[in-house]
Amino acid sequence: MIVCKEQSGIFTLHTRRTTYQMKVNRYGVLLHTYYGPRVRDCDLSGLIRQADRSFSPNPDEAGSDRSFSLDTAPQEYSTCGVGDFRLSSVEFELPNGSHATDFRYAGCRTERGKYALEGLPAFYGEDGETLVIILEDAAAHAAIELYYGVLEEFDLITRAVRVVNRGSETLRLCRCASLCLDFLRADMDFITFDGRHAAERCLNRAPLRPGVQSADSVRGASSHQHNPFVILCDGDAGEDHGLCYGVMLLYSGNFLAAAERDQFENSRLVMGIHPRHFCWSLAPGESFTAPEAAMVCSPDGFGEMSRQFHRAIRTSLIRDGRSRQRKPVLVNNWEATYFDFDTEKLLSIAREAAALGVELFVLDDGWFGARSDDSRGLGDWQVNTDKLPGGLESLVPRLHALGMSFGIWVEPEMVNEDSELYRAHPDWVLQTPGRAPARGRGQLALDFSRREVRDHVYGQLRQVLSSAPVSYVKWDMNRSLTDVWSAALPPARQGEVYHRYVLGVYDILERLRRDYPDILLEGCCGGGGRFDGGMLYYTPQIWCSDNTDAIDRLRIQYGTSFCYPVCAMGAHVSAVPNEQNGRITPLAARGIAAMSGAFGYEMDLGRCTAEEKEEIRRQIATCKAHWELFHWGDYYRLTGSSGPFTAWEQVSPDRRQAVVSLVSGGAQAAPPFLNLKLKGLDPAREYRMSDGGVMGGDVLMSAGYPLPPFRGDYQSMQLFLEAVE
Ligand code: DGJ
Repeated sequence: MIVCKEQSGIFTLHTRRTTYQMKVNRYGVLLHTYYGPRVRDCDLSGLIRQADRSFSPNPDEAGSDRSFSLDTAPQEYSTCGVGDFRLSSVEFELPNGSHATDFRYAGCRTERGKYALEGLPAFYGEDGETLVIILEDAAAHAAIELYYGVLEEFDLITRAVRVVNRGSETLRLCRCASLCLDFLRADMDFITFDGRHAAERCLNRAPLRPGVQSADSVRGASSHQHNPFVILCDGDAGEDHGLCYGVMLLYSGNFLAAAERDQFENSRLVMGIHPRHFCWSLAPGESFTAPEAAMVCSPDGFGEMSRQFHRAIRTSLIRDGRSRQRKPVLVNNWEATYFDFDTEKLLSIAREAAALGVELFVLDDGWFGARSDDSRGLGDWQVNTDKLPGGLESLVPRLHALGMSFGIWVEPEMVNEDSELYRAHPDWVLQTPGRAPARGRGQLALDFSRREVRDHVYGQLRQVLSSAPVSYVKWDMNRSLTDVWSAALPPARQGEVYHRYVLGVYDILERLRRDYPDILLEGCCGGGGRFDGGMLYYTPQIWCSDNTDAIDRLRIQYGTSFCYPVCAMGAHVSAVPNEQNGRITPLAARGIAAMSGAFGYEMDLGRCTAEEKEEIRRQIATCKAHWELFHWGDYYRLTGSSGPFTAWEQVSPDRRQAVVSLVSGGAQAAPPFLNLKLKGLDPAREYRMSDGGVMGGDVLMSAGYPLPPFRGDYQSMQLFLEAVE
């Protein structure tokens, strides 16, 4: 609910359990008064107390009032150069060379439904509401529109920012954050999700210390190294208690999430496109829209925060019409064959998989051009008929005859120098004049900021997708961007290329969605290097990590689950010893880890023993029978990811069904007996369990489920619960 009291300049956003408020002060500055558990409708600006502080300047209008300073007041969207020395949200280089701007309240409007952003991902919802607050800086001839979307039942508030040049000269916008969030406290922890290729999204938590701390990417993608999702929370917040604020940026390129604890024990979070390498020229009348950010405040710890993000992402961000349906169980040939395959090899993998219940065959890298290894062929999206005689026209019907649908891997943003595309258009890559570009995985990045480049690549993709019925596309991206310079833009506009590249990716993904609405898209960036809310708007699932080891995956999927729902995490059972780390884990543990994800296999199932095949048949049957519980159930983390075992639980929204999954770590001699406390059940009901027992919901939650002793490494348990009528 949006309560807009224009007269008193108070704007209050209420969600089911939270309240967010801003107020225009006597000088027209839009202050942030409150964000937290839901409170009644009232003026909360009394919480802001100010005093004459040395070295914190006072604006001209304040006259002799030395108590007001931009440096000490909580602001809704901070500026720079006129008195606030903390993190700036927006910065221009004005025609006169100044960087100082000072925005004051100029008006507001409300809209029915949640706003959309042209060319950018955004949450949607007809039941949502929109508030737009307009700020102006007369001296800079610029206006800022602050967008707020309220999705009440998810406790989700979205933010976006549109900057307009109202003057007659070009403005250079060198910073434009999507969100600024000020708190009248600094006793909070800052949580970020960090890592590297094959080890993404490890949770890191530390108290805010004086000064600025941040998570960011300048790699052209949101990155394996830091995720555009962060949390600020009470120092003692845990899964089920404590106040926490989760903030995600729906963006897939360079980003900065910076948190600052200031001199007076207040704090500020600013999040948006990374200002490094960013500078956007705004001609008179033009506008720039910053990507959307979304916040959930949970008064009851991380668990509820995550569940609210999951619900919102599943129903109001992911747009795949079939996401309400069961996803096909797939087999992907990558780890089984790498580049070394032909039709017969693929069909033998498919035959074995189909016999066990797999429904979709995904042909990964290596099917096109002269792609015999990863140094050639990217850019030439025509079937390599030496490997696949007769092309997809011949292969796909044979898969259909096995009862399987067909999916294909592409990496449209990239090119190898050894390719027809590069030979024809060497000027289409990102590179700086006079300098040979750096290679990543031996490849260069195409300049996706250019329409003609995208059109060409899309034309090739269309031909492939029209040559045979394709029901799934995996969209990969296997290097960080360097040498980011576009031949299509003048020197003064090179600061736009990173962002235009991301807009280009979104443009082509949108076209794919529009032209092939029935194709299931899976995002990928060397695994989880672009796992963000921006991509999820286009691709309902994302390959979570190139690391398929079940034990490493427990930690990766644990960190990922703080914001993103399990249905969005591509997760496959692969062969042992694991290709990435050589670990040997039981098939049961691999199955349980992958089942809390978009499930599939990435191995030659023909190499499995009869006993393993039986186990695989069971896994697939379980996954099909309980897919709704796994993907649409409320997700509870029962443990952390570094203890003797990792456990989690999904509970159906009506609390009648649940599944508990557990995977243990290395073997222990003389292990203690442990009881695992479940969550989210109905305390009044009794539950029949798949181990044959019956226990009360209250007992399972308060006293716990007695775990069996585990012998050996990486043991696992999957326990289904059904309410007794
Ligand atoms: C990186 C992906 O994450 C892998 O799954 C695989 O598709 C390879 N690229 C293929 O080159």
